[in-house]
Parts: sequence; C-alpha cells; structure tokens
Amino acid sequence: AQEVTFYEAVGGEETFRRLVHRFYQGVADDPLLRPLYPEEDLGPAEERLRLFLIQYWGGPRTYSIQRGHPRLRMRHVPFTIGTAERDAWLRHMRDALDELDLPEQLEQMLWEYLEMAARSLINSPD
Ligand code: HEM
Repeated sequence: AQEVTFYEAVGGEETFRRLVHRFYQGVADDPLLRPLYPEEDLGPAEERLRLFLIQYWGGPRTYSIQRGHPRLRMRHVPFTIGTAERDAWLRHMRDALDELDLPEQLEQMLWEYLEMAARSLINSPD
C-alpha cells in the first residue's frame, strides 16, 4: 500500500524550508529569544530545526544521522525557557505557518504539535 506521509502532503522539503526560514527571521529580531541562541550565525540552528521537523513528519532521517536521537528536552536544558519564551517561540511559528497557506486540516495538525512540543520544553516555570 502506498502511503503519503504528512511530510509529502504538506509539500515536502520546500514547505519546511520556508516555515523554518520565516521562523528564524522572527527570532533574529526578537529581543527575548535572540540572546538564547549561542551562535552568531542562526543558519546552523535553522538547519537543525528544519531537519528535525522533516524527520518528525516522515521525511528523510538526516537529522538523526547528523545529530543522533533528538532528546529535545535534554538539548534545551542549557536555555531558560519559561512561558514568555514559549509564547515568543510560538508567535514566530504562528506567523511563519500563516504564510504557508496550508490546507486547514494539515495546518491544524502541525500547529497542535508545535504547541504541545513547545509546552513540553518549558524548563523554568514562572
Ligand atoms: C535548538 C530554543 C522550542 C526543536 C534550540 C536552541 C535554542 C532553542 C536556543 C539552540 C540552537 C541551536 O540549535 O544551536 C528554543 C525555545 C523554545 C524551543 C526558546 C520555546 C519553547 C522548540 C520546539 C522544538 C524545538 C517546540 C521542536 C518542535 C529544536 C531542535 C534544536 C533546537 C531540533 C536543535 C537540537 C540539536 O540537534 O542540537 N532551541 N526552542 N525547539 N530546538 Fe528549540
């Protein structure tokens, strides 16, 4: 049986490239979030998030080949993430997602996942 992955249904790599690129444009100008990113160049962070999301949604597993098991909670421990950081992160994702104009059901699935994942990474509750 042929199954279309979510990754393919939303438009494959190009869609994730646009989503994450737009997201990082927001982060670049965000006074709360920008200082959290250790590197001057946001390009490598952009690539890691893009590859992670591609893998999560059924695309190529390049993320794990390069980075190993995601272990996102552990990888976010060095950064203070409270509700303000979570909200800012989600706001940039929301803006980026709106620009993609995906079919409503797919957009909602992606958004619900992002909200859940962002909530799960709060490590510094108010
Ligand atoms: C990495 C912040 C939520 C996925 C990072 C980094 C920071 C950060 C500062 C290091 C940048 C780098 O890769 O060098 C935040 C904040 C969040 C958040 C403030 C707010 C809740 C999320 C969510 C996801 C995610 C919801 C997934 C859906 C990733 C991935 C990496 C990363 C895949 C790279 C991990 C690695 O391979 O090293 N994040 N993040 N983050 N974040 Fe987040």
